[in-house]
Amino acid sequence: MFARIGIKFAVFAGVAAIFFAMGALADEFTQKDLQRWEEQYQKVVQKGRALWTSPKLGTNGVACAQCHPNAANTHPETYPKFQKQIGRVITLGEMVNWCLRNPLEGKPLALDSGEMVAILAYITHERKGIPLAPGKH
Ligand code: HEC
Repeated sequence: MFARIGIKFAVFAGVAAIFFAMGALADEFTQKDLQRWEEQYQKVVQKGRALWTSPKLGTNGVACAQCHPNAANTHPETYPKFQKQIGRVITLGEMVNWCLRNPLEGKPLALDSGEMVAILAYITHERKGIPLAPGKH
């Protein structure tokens, strides 16, 4: 009886120790790290905001912000989803390129380009806290 409880406790303690160790590993960064990462993130968001309001992103003088002020009606939380304009399930970046090509008459951005990352950072920053709803229309 006591031996059984002893084994159960040992297993419990072992599992608890593993979780504790995982937590300790995950938290292995300093306040200085956190501050640096936040600064880097905010810099990219600001770059995205500048692109968003810039008439130079496309070729016809139109800016994203004219139709989507403060990233309104971009619904990043609904991606990936089926977009009828493209006819398949796409990511948010592909929809950014659709608007770049059509209303802005510009060239699409490489999905891993600095400009695309900045635009995606800006859109999702504006919609922070909204629950993910992929596929929703
Ligand atoms: C002339 C107005 C106009 C401009 C300028 C414009 N858009 Fe759009 N945008 C639209 C329309 C119309 C839709 C289509 C809505 C739909 O069918 O989902 C759309 C849809 C989107 C969506 C998807 C919204 C959703 O609900 O899934 C994103 C993201 C987006 N635009 C980003 C951009 C970006 C980035 C730019 C600048 C490069 C831009 N838009 C410029 C009109 C515009």
